Amino acid sequence: MAPMQVMASGYKKEPRRALDFTINQSTPFNAEPPVTSLRDHFVTPNEKFYIRNHAPVPVIDGESYKLVIEGLVAKHSKFSIWELKNNFTQHTVMATLMVNSCLYIFSISDFRGIHDILLIILFITNITQDMTWYGVGWGCAAISNAVWKGPRLRDVLLSAGIEKLESFWDQLHVNFEGVDICKDNQGYGSSIPLHKALDKRGDVILALEMNGSELPRDHGYPVRVVVPGYIGARSVKWLKTITVQMHESTNYFQKKDYKLFLPEIDWDTVDEWWDKSVPIQELNVQAAITQPKNNEVIPRGSRYTIKGYALSGGGRKIVRVDISLDGGKSWTVANLFTSSQGLLHIDTKWSWEFWDCTIKSMPSPCQIVCRAWDEASNTMPEDIKQIWNLRGVMNNSWVRVNVVSDAAKL
Ligand code: MTE
Repeated sequence: MAPMQVMASGYKKEPRRALDFTINQSTPFNAEPPVTSLRDHFVTPNEKFYIRNHAPVPVIDGESYKLVIEGLVAKHSKFSIWELKNNFTQHTVMATLMVNSCLYIFSISDFRGIHDILLIILFITNITQDMTWYGVGWGCAAISNAVWKGPRLRDVLLSAGIEKLESFWDQLHVNFEGVDICKDNQGYGSSIPLHKALDKRGDVILALEMNGSELPRDHGYPVRVVVPGYIGARSVKWLKTITVQMHESTNYFQKKDYKLFLPEIDWDTVDEWWDKSVPIQELNVQAAITQPKNNEVIPRGSRYTIKGYALSGGGRKIVRVDISLDGGKSWTVANLFTSSQGLLHIDTKWSWEFWDCTIKSMPSPCQIVCRAWDEASNTMPEDIKQIWNLRGVMNNSWVRVNVVSDAAKL
């Protein structure tokens, strides 16, 4: 078979996209759906799924495509899409992916760009230190849930003879490299520990389908790995090579991004910390308010249902979401529900949880505060100051949305 055809097209061959997305960066394309539409579907339709790209979307010829498996495996192998579909049992996993560099403080759907977010953070948290970072700013709609289908990574690695290395399994990593050329002239890349890849309950799959259709180009056509319970950055799209190796990925996105530091580490002092800090893998506990929008008018004394989502990493279920209308002095427990649109036979442990909380009499004006808890009793810190890091990643401080009284508008 001819070598895999990948056309270099820059940004001329980008896919068509929904018009109502908030575009946080246009090249490479980074965009999220309107926050108010998130709760319309438990399983997000493909065209409403947020998009996080670091380079132009590659144009890949599915006919000539071959996925390479190499490194410390007994048999270096190459698989076409047909072989991935027909030589392995196909496995279905419902999993939510989320951008982990969310910087939102408010459930803001109307901001554009980093400066607005920075001002909001400074205003709300009174932070006086220099909180500059670089990267794309995101709102709380950079999250979506899909049903993915394809062979288990476990089965593909077993077919390449990984069992021969069983005594080393705990020390090995699985490295993924995408076709898209990003930092340092390398394909986008990341790795996960081999034990996650081999764990049947870890549900790592090489997705060929998303919600019943072939993967859309923006989401990794023809093959992406889906690593449920991990930050979205590890679910590498447009997969070119999978390598089993003794060390974690040396790719920029594993070594120099998506890491946590002390709040006082800045761009002048960070260099010595990159190697000392571990890459983020499992997602932390997160929540957001999708209704009302920030600064929405809600008549004082009216009955109102606050809505949102919550999720946690590592397959840890959300067990409680708390709502406060007095800055955290007293709390009301929200109602959790997982509705999977007739797909209840699919495990939802990797999916977000929707929640509602009906307030009989809104004390507008007020601030709604929300925090979630997962089954390991992890919860969200009150203040971003305690968890601030120069990349702004994994912010899961209490979510705050301001409500304006109708009287204030008269
Ligand atoms: N894989 C490749 N090859 N290139 C990328 O830019 N972005 C990563 C991950 N996989 C990325 C990638 C990040 S940071 C996230 S959050 C998810 O893909 C986003 O997936 P989506 O665009 O399908 O929502």
